[in-house]
Amino acid sequence: MPHPADIVLIAGSPSPSSRSAAALEYIAHALHQEHQDTHTLFARDLVATALSVSNPSEHPAIQSAAVVVQNARAVVVATPVYNAAYSGVLKTFLDLLPQKILTGKVVFPVATGGSLAHLLAIEYALKPVLSALGARHILQGVYLTDAQITWVAGTKTAYSTVFRIEESEENRLFEGVTTLLHSVYGSMIATRPGAVSVGKDLALPATGDHEKGTINE
Ligand SMILES: Cc1cc2nc3c(=O)[nH]c(=O)nc-3n(C[C@H](O)[C@H](O)[C@H](O)COP(=O)(O)O)c2cc1C
Repeated sequence: MPHPADIVLIAGSPSPSSRSAAALEYIAHALHQEHQDTHTLFARDLVATALSVSNPSEHPAIQSAAVVVQNARAVVVATPVYNAAYSGVLKTFLDLLPQKILTGKVVFPVATGGSLAHLLAIEYALKPVLSALGARHILQGVYLTDAQITWVAGTKTAYSTVFRIEESEENRLFEGVTTLLHSVYGSMIATRPGAVSVGKDLALPATGDHEKGTINE
């Protein structure tokens, strides 16, 4: 069973090289700077694994992921915009989880799209699904366009070897992280990552489970 983390990140893209996942990497980096443990679930891998059996919701990888989400206090959900909504693979993954699994959790939605045309996909598409899963405390979402997340393969940033997010957009994501920490722990951080530590002082686990779409970070 993966190590439980208070903050779980769900990557909703079917793409192995994903801008929305890069946004999650930045969020994870910011949380780690604040000594917050995180656990990332990759819907793409989990769905591919689970659909190989006749009852996908009972696949051990899905049941393990459900426990991870159940134990979390906050969930960050990132998705690409596909045809004015969230990705199908994210929906399939969420459909495999128990009903109302997001009850009592702080949820931070993040989306990336090709343009600003579908900026409201978070409000009109993603948030209703999160609500249906029991979420009542949904933070203001962050929407990023592809132009704000540049392909930089080979030149490593602090959090990604593949993409660089514009600093102004990093700041928007960081504001979301600050709000999330405040919502979960009642603590405020007023500066960029690394300057001030708040909340719990968790020791990061030394090992990770990179199998079946999960990573302990
Ligand atoms: C099948 C498909 C449908 C898409 N539909 C939209 C769309 O309706 N609106 C939009 O702004 N971008 C759309 N895009 C662009 C993606 O949302 C955008 O490139 C996103 O950043 C991809 O995220 P990812 O790299 O995490 O998969 C679409 C891309 C694909 C492949």
